[in-house]
Amino acid sequence: MAESVAQEKRSIEEARADFLARFPAYKETGLLDELRATEYRRLDEHGQVYLDYTGGSLYAESQIQKHFELMRSGVLGNPHSANPASAAMTEHVERTRRSVLRYFNAPAEDYILVFTQNASAALKLVGESFSFAPGSRYLLTFDNHNSVNGIREFARAKGAAIQYAPIVIPDLRLDVARLEKMLSEADPAAANLFAFPAQSNFSGVKHRLEVVATARRKGWSVLLDAAAFVPTNRLDLSAVQPDFVTLSFYKIFGYPTGVGALIVRRSALPKLKRPWFAGGTVNFASVQGQTHVLSPNEAAFEDGTLNYLAIPAVEIGLRHIESIGIETIGERVRCLTGWLLEELLALRHGNGRAMVRIYGPANTEARGGTVTLNLYDPQGHLLDYRRVEELAGEEGISLRTGCFCNPGAGEIAEGLTEEDMRAGFTLGEEINLLSFVRMMQERGHKSAGAIRASIGLATNFADVWRFFRFVAGFRDQTRLTIGDVSFDIESCRIIRDGS
Ligand SMILES: Cc1ncc(COP(=O)(O)O)c(C=O)c1O
Repeated sequence: MAESVAQEKRSIEEARADFLARFPAYKETGLLDELRATEYRRLDEHGQVYLDYTGGSLYAESQIQKHFELMRSGVLGNPHSANPASAAMTEHVERTRRSVLRYFNAPAEDYILVFTQNASAALKLVGESFSFAPGSRYLLTFDNHNSVNGIREFARAKGAAIQYAPIVIPDLRLDVARLEKMLSEADPAAANLFAFPAQSNFSGVKHRLEVVATARRKGWSVLLDAAAFVPTNRLDLSAVQPDFVTLSFYKIFGYPTGVGALIVRRSALPKLKRPWFAGGTVNFASVQGQTHVLSPNEAAFEDGTLNYLAIPAVEIGLRHIESIGIETIGERVRCLTGWLLEELLALRHGNGRAMVRIYGPANTEARGGTVTLNLYDPQGHLLDYRRVEELAGEEGISLRTGCFCNPGAGEIAEGLTEEDMRAGFTLGEEINLLSFVRMMQERGHKSAGAIRASIGLATNFADVWRFFRFVAGFRDQTRLTIGDVSFDIESCRIIRDGS
């Protein structure tokens, strides 16, 4: 305990020196300190600590300026016509499409890229189009974003069986042996889809990408949700070869929002049958004949008008990341995450009890910069994470709390059982995160939800230091001393009194 208090009494300079001694590779990421002072200076101008990179990354000022200049100087119209304004826009869109494929080392002979609104829209395209049928299976990991869980409704409606592959506490990694067994049990002649995240948006775990090849060898189509992975890791689609990859660009470089991608292996295209057609997706459609012929490749999936003005900002964003180097970003995030994990886990109350519980790996081995935790009082009672978020906000620290749209990882991490979940559903239409949290508190002080601090490309040591000091401030605090929360979270929306 005395040691824990001494750790916090250090000045930031002492702490930084100790950090650099423990994580010397951080020094090689100095370029990002320069960018923090220029491209991301608004953080320090506002005294803000932004720790919600898994929610969305931050954009560099120059991205906005370059995009603005492009828009200011060009006459750009709705693509897919022959007029000059349209042709200029089409050239920008197609150029961006090529640059995204190049960025992911995805040869155009092997892959197509569909622009979507976000990762969820890309996932929905796969869900609604995949050839599920009676006899086929949808296998997905417990650890998944709800937009991947939601595909089970399409699978169910077409008579496919749904199975969840377990993750194992405390590290919340896949049970690979169990997964391989589940993959082997399917009928290889059926249309089977296996979906998992390359990196968890709940725990930061990087799941083993080798399972892509294993599943494909066993005849499965594989959907890799790369949304939380690509902001800090290289995804090489010549090495890892999933059938479908989904992502949102704002998670990599902050701007633009409203553009995501579905990358499809050409060999997997026949597995997708679009349930409808729309403007832009047909080569021919007739009203009297009531028939249509879908366009080939990506055009069949891009419904209506693309977010065409935003798309060139994707190429600008990719160039920005390339100018830094994704490995540099990943290394910086690894160092800061490693320090934060070690320091948080060492925090003790006056009576020697741990203050923090981390969900997921306690070190940087095969994990990213998403750190999910709960705080406890000296008697081991959970502190309300919503109140913690509120207090963090008062200090200019942006965190995320709740279940992060990943109920499966949360259920396993927090020891919630199927029985707990069934009890929750007895609330009927009244169930929401708040009423469920209350019920779980009554059923044995279980938590339902947590605090997420996620580190990204513009994070520096001062940010993690301020967060650490904020958490250390909960020493010997109780539910009574920290006060009551003044907002509720309902369906992932913040509701304040009077709003
Ligand atoms: C792993 C993962 N998948 C999918 C999504 C959905 O992304 P979007 O909200 O941009 O559709 C998210 C968003 O947080 C995510 O973290």
